[in-house]
Amino acid sequence: MGYGAMQLAGPGVWGPPKDPAGAVAVLREAVAAGVDHIDTSDYYGPHVTNQIIRDALHPYPDGLVIVTKLGGKRPADKSWQPAITPAELISGLHDNLRNLGLEAMDIVNYRVMGMGPEEGSVAEQISTLADLQRQGLIRHIGISNATAAQVAEAQSIVDIVSVQNNYNLAHREDDALIDDLARQGIAYVPFFPLGGFSPLQSSTLSDVATKLGSTPLQVALAWLLHRSPNILLIPGTSSVGHLRENLAAAELTLSEETLAELNAI
Ligand SMILES: NC(=O)c1ccc[n+]([C@@H]2O[C@H](COP(=O)([O-])OP(=O)(O)OC[C@H]3O[C@@H](n4cnc5c(N)ncnc54)[C@H](OP(=O)(O)O)[C@@H]3O)[C@@H](O)[C@H]2O)c1
Repeated sequence: MGYGAMQLAGPGVWGPPKDPAGAVAVLREAVAAGVDHIDTSDYYGPHVTNQIIRDALHPYPDGLVIVTKLGGKRPADKSWQPAITPAELISGLHDNLRNLGLEAMDIVNYRVMGMGPEEGSVAEQISTLADLQRQGLIRHIGISNATAAQVAEAQSIVDIVSVQNNYNLAHREDDALIDDLARQGIAYVPFFPLGGFSPLQSSTLSDVATKLGSTPLQVALAWLLHRSPNILLIPGTSSVGHLRENLAAAELTLSEETLAELNAI
């Protein structure tokens, strides 16, 4: 169970949070509870989320894996735009390193821009990340918001350690990809594990949660952990209370019967 830092910026993932001390508290609580995987991007805020991570956690504890993504930018109109030329990717990496206070990134995902995955070559961008890896600035490379064909194309260029796509109980387009990546021993990291900006709601989910004495969103996270052994979670929250609930979801065991009920949603 990891932690996704996108919710730490201000509303609309823009500017500072209303409660900066609260954001620092969430990160410190996560690491104290054993979280060793934090997902971020320098275009959250922009810059703000990484600066909060550095303020809260630097110098970073041994074993903490910070994962960022490149491929986007946030102009002053607060929109989300592609930043996919080699020069933009290189300057994006240096923004991450500077704002996080790191010499090298553990993992960088190339985030293919667009609302959902769309076909198109990723060769130039992945090759740029591979160059940065050869220079020692990136340890491992992943890909995000990608189709199966884009994952395969990226793997033909460089070793891919993780795929980060939109996936949750109600959004399962990647089922076959997850199974394929599991066979290859590659991590699958669902973004929007709780449904994202509009958290999941389902009467079945609520009924199961009532029976188990948990919350619906804890059941949604537990379902993901049961779905495949290569799934790593990065639920996002700005609240210490929600963080604790989310981490506790790792302790939930779902029976075959319960999984069948949830699979039918
Ligand atoms: N690669 C990509 O393109 C991409 C896209 C989106 C996100 N991501 C990454 O994935 C991470 C997870 O996605 P996400 O944060 O957008 O969505 P999410 O984890 O599916 O859901 C976050 C939302 O759920 C709420 N929430 C969290 N825990 C809760 C709980 N226990 N009870 C009730 N509400 C709860 C949060 O509000 P509160 O703050 O009030 O808890 C927030 O509104 C992000 O943080 C980011 O690092 C990557």
